[in-house]
Amino acid sequence: MRFETDAIHAGQDPDPTTGAVTVPIHATSTYAQDAPGEHRGFEYSRTGNPTRTALETALATLEGADVEMGGGAVATASGMAATALVGYLLRPGDHVLLPDDAYGGTFRFFTKVLAEQGIDWSAVDVTDARLVETALRPETKLVWVETPTNPLLRIADLERLGDLLRDRLFVVDNTFASPYLQRPLDFGADLVVHSTTKYLGGHSDVVGGAVVTAEPELAARLRFLQNAAGPVAGPFDAWLVLRGLKTLAVRMDRHQSNAQQVAEFLANDPRVAEVIYPGLASHPQHGLASRQMSGFGGMVSFRPRGGADAAVTVASSTRVFTLAESLGGVESLIEVPAAMTHTSVAGTTLEVPSDLVRLSVGIEHVDDLIDDLDQALG
Ligand SMILES: Cc1ncc(COP(=O)(O)O)c(C=O)c1O
Repeated sequence: MRFETDAIHAGQDPDPTTGAVTVPIHATSTYAQDAPGEHRGFEYSRTGNPTRTALETALATLEGADVEMGGGAVATASGMAATALVGYLLRPGDHVLLPDDAYGGTFRFFTKVLAEQGIDWSAVDVTDARLVETALRPETKLVWVETPTNPLLRIADLERLGDLLRDRLFVVDNTFASPYLQRPLDFGADLVVHSTTKYLGGHSDVVGGAVVTAEPELAARLRFLQNAAGPVAGPFDAWLVLRGLKTLAVRMDRHQSNAQQVAEFLANDPRVAEVIYPGLASHPQHGLASRQMSGFGGMVSFRPRGGADAAVTVASSTRVFTLAESLGGVESLIEVPAAMTHTSVAGTTLEVPSDLVRLSVGIEHVDDLIDDLDQALG
């Protein structure tokens, strides 16, 4: 089936007992057994829950991980819980290569949590495959890539990295693009990580995460770790993300057409020093983004003239864009990463420019978004 059809139907057959068209919220911790040890597929909700299973099947299918062939997904309580599950695949002495432009929480987890457990790290510009190659060590077990990156929207070459990292765990955080626009497993990624809090949920009403893989051994290991460590998505949260998935394609289409128009407006405004959006021909990796993505997404970053003070003023002056962290919901958000989402990387190689403003362009009418930015810049 095509993406739009899978988003609505994969793992989401009508309920066999009642015919309910929508997957029910199975709010139960345990399941009646027919005889000791004989259950009907579910025994305890940390191990498995039908609502979560529906979401996991849908996510795996949308990322191109064939469930029939042993691929799969684990849905977790947050994006960071998904990252933590990936961390359990590492051993003391392993080395991890991180992007030098990444979600601050990811960087914090590897450098402040796993580093204390003997897992070494270094950071590199993952948008330059030659630098990645040079930074690899014999003990480099895992390479973490975000593309587009948060918040500078740089693009990593997934095909080249896929070739280079055949013998390592190649992990791609696909939160910014969503599987509608980019499918890293097709380029050789071993694991795809999501904060489903963002575009997949899509309505700023749930925190969740997922790890997806097409490789049966990794899928089995992740399921084991999910049950052993317990960072599962609850049934109501899983249901909210499932509901969000159904409209992902139409939302993403609107997110990115609005983002393109907002980026073009900003690029033509003399009050703006720089606009970063992969859909602009001025973006240094516009060609690469066009090849490996089927659209450029809904995130736009820009630097108003006037430095950090101007960035704070603009972000505090919008009326339609809400000043808030997070992204990927139907409503437009604005933030200053250096003062908000990326404070945990201040003073590190990941420090972001203090005058950068990040927009999560929502699906409101684009003219209202442009008018709002126009008055805020004024
Ligand atoms: C790219 C990216 N990955 C992971 C995360 C972490 O996800 P969560 O906040 O759901 O734990 C975020 C959160 O902002 C993010 O932007």
